[in-house]
Amino acid sequence: MRVLITGGAGYIGSGLAPLLLGAGHKVRVLDRLVYGGESLLGVWANPNFEFVHGDVREAGKRKEAVADCDAVVHLAAVVGDPACAREPELAKAVNLEASLALIEESRRAGVQRFVFASTCSNYGKMSDPTSFVNEESELRPVSLYAETKVAVEKTLLEGGTDDKWIPTPLRFATVFGASPRMRFDLTVNEFTMEMITKKHLVVFGEQFWRPYVHVFDAARGIALVLSSPGEKVGGRVFNVGSTDQNLQKQQIVELIKPLVPDAKIEFVHKAEDPRDYRVSFDRILNELGYRTTRSVVDGILEVAKMVRTGAISNLADSRYRN
Ligand SMILES: NC(=O)c1ccc[n+]([C@@H]2O[C@H](COP(=O)([O-])OP(=O)(O)OC[C@H]3O[C@@H](n4cnc5c(N)ncnc54)[C@H](O)[C@@H]3O)[C@@H](O)[C@H]2O)c1
Repeated sequence: MRVLITGGAGYIGSGLAPLLLGAGHKVRVLDRLVYGGESLLGVWANPNFEFVHGDVREAGKRKEAVADCDAVVHLAAVVGDPACAREPELAKAVNLEASLALIEESRRAGVQRFVFASTCSNYGKMSDPTSFVNEESELRPVSLYAETKVAVEKTLLEGGTDDKWIPTPLRFATVFGASPRMRFDLTVNEFTMEMITKKHLVVFGEQFWRPYVHVFDAARGIALVLSSPGEKVGGRVFNVGSTDQNLQKQQIVELIKPLVPDAKIEFVHKAEDPRDYRVSFDRILNELGYRTTRSVVDGILEVAKMVRTGAISNLADSRYRN
């Protein structure tokens, strides 16, 4: 297939591009390079790789990017609650309006498969904190970020599905681990980096639950959906992660501690967190046979090695945070 990855220079996309190329696909990336394009240099010279520098908000760039594509993986977004809260108009324009326009353009251009990067944040606070939410659970978005994702999912699902149009929203757990575009603003990466470099970490709401998935496994999930029969994935939402990787923040700290036993940890108790959720990943396991391959501990060790060896020299650079 020829696959367009929007936002392909980002944390997930820059791992996905080489994975799809390795599987024999042609890959085109559309990205405005908010955090630079070095993350794609590893695939730059691959004859099956194409790059379109541009913004998903521009109609001309959308048209150029989707032309002759069999599949679109739509990752480009203003990513995360803080980034969306800081620039709400931009977030609505990119995450909502441009996403809807990209769906339309894809259908017009005869793209068959459309994978949309959504998020487990859509679940918001669990009504019953002792249970697990799944794809059928009520969505309770508590941020503009999640609201835009819920709205795009809804439009995508309302558009129906047949053998010519196979849309699949994927709700990713919070991602961690090493990628060509590093992010140190994601919980596992951030905690590991801070405990090693500062020997000090302040944790807000240590008891709240969240699911986690390695960035390589997130990319594998997308690749699996692209290669699954249309009747299994068309118009179907999948959570991407694994049920045993639901962790409380405090548990993540405990996993990092053996590496930095002298780090001072301060827990700032919060009675309420609007994003407290444990997620079931049974559907993707049972229906597509998806299993994660890397644990939170694997991710912690990768980040620790990256920090300790100086592989990234300027860890404080804003390009590593959204
Ligand atoms: N990282 C996570 O924990 C996580 C969890 C759930 C869902 N997701 C979703 O997965 C997707 C990718 O996330 P990520 O962590 O790789 O984010 P990222 O910020 O690392 O990557 C986003 C990429 O999109 C590009 N981009 C942003 N605005 C653009 C625009 N207007 N036009 C073209 N390109 C644009 C950026 O330059 C960047 O390369 C996002 O849609 C995000 O909502 C991520």
